[in-house]
Amino acid sequence: PVVALVLAGGTGSRLYPASRADRPKQFLSLLGEESLLSRTVERAREAADEVVVSTRPSFAEAVPDHAPDAEVVVEPAARDTGPALVYATHRIRELYGDCVVVALPSDHRVEGEFADVMRRGARVAADTGSLVTFGVEPTRPDTGYGYIEPGAFASEGGGGSETGERGGDDYAPVAAFHEKPDAETAEAYVDAGHYWNAGIFAWTPASLIDAARDTPLSGLVAALDAGDDPETAFADVPEVSIDYGVMERADDAVVVPATFEWDDLGSWDALERVLDADEDGSVVAGDATLRSVDAADNVVAGDDKHVSLVGVSDLAVVAWDDRVLVVPKSRAQDVRALADELKSRG
Ligand code: GDD
Ligand code: MG
Repeated sequence: PVVALVLAGGTGSRLYPASRADRPKQFLSLLGEESLLSRTVERAREAADEVVVSTRPSFAEAVPDHAPDAEVVVEPAARDTGPALVYATHRIRELYGDCVVVALPSDHRVEGEFADVMRRGARVAADTGSLVTFGVEPTRPDTGYGYIEPGAFASEGGGGSETGERGGDDYAPVAAFHEKPDAETAEAYVDAGHYWNAGIFAWTPASLIDAARDTPLSGLVAALDAGDDPETAFADVPEVSIDYGVMERADDAVVVPATFEWDDLGSWDALERVLDADEDGSVVAGDATLRSVDAADNVVAGDDKHVSLVGVSDLAVVAWDDRVLVVPKSRAQDVRALADELKSRG
């Protein structure tokens, strides 16, 4: 079977103060009525035969509200996506045996032929035993994403099937993987024709677990293989994302072009790409309302707040609970610096 592994254990620190320690972004309804997590689970059901949600202990109780009928795998401690994915993939092998795992973050907006591309990626993962990444054509030098440098595509003699250019059944080996570069480097990657890493992966359990043996996660793999209890297995596990921990080191990864519309709702500036703007070019998210005089191109979000703006532009203004955040849109990535507010492990 194809098993969708939905990641729902992050804190969403760049979406503070809507995201808080007990209410991460995946539980918020930033695009219409449904939470980002429940939208992701629905999308996952179309692309896979089974749906598993991976989360940290402190969110375990809330997940079923957003993902009814999904299997929930709770890692013993929050250590970022590297340990979470290795742990959940190990568990999926126990639950479903031979299968292909498709790992899906729960902070994406997707439109278009998503399920088709996932099925295609799952087939490549099963046929080649490689770690499959999905590459999005960049439209700007975003520093919030990872970049994938492709080798030669099958259609260029790279070794897969023989269909046309970057699309269809085509895929390429990953020549290099570069997580979150600085602005100048990102620009060079875009010019060089690299992809954005969609943060979506497909692998067989054996491929991921083998790839992780040669990384900072080797101890976790050894403990899980030995049948240690999860708490013991996690005791000394480093905090590391799958991108830095495994993908950047993997020597057998391939990239499948992601031919759907895609956005990561990771920071406040992302909302203006996915919501309809008013006549002043501003967008309003959540239950907020906005009145503006001489103000343009702002991102406003809030829980039932009325926001007034006079003579300001290109800001994100967010009012949630008893908190207010004001940040230039261009510095929305830097909201991560407030992450200590959200740090509550477990
Ligand atoms: N179970 C679990 N445990 N899930 C986690 C944890 C954890 O400790 N930490 C984060 N997650 C979940 C988040 O809830 C989210 O759904 C997903 O993992 C990805 O985490 P993000 O924090 O949103 O990652 P990112 O956006 O900064 O970067 C990744 O995605 C980008 C594209 O969306 C990277 O893969 C980048 O390379 C990529 O471009
Ligand atoms: Mg993200």
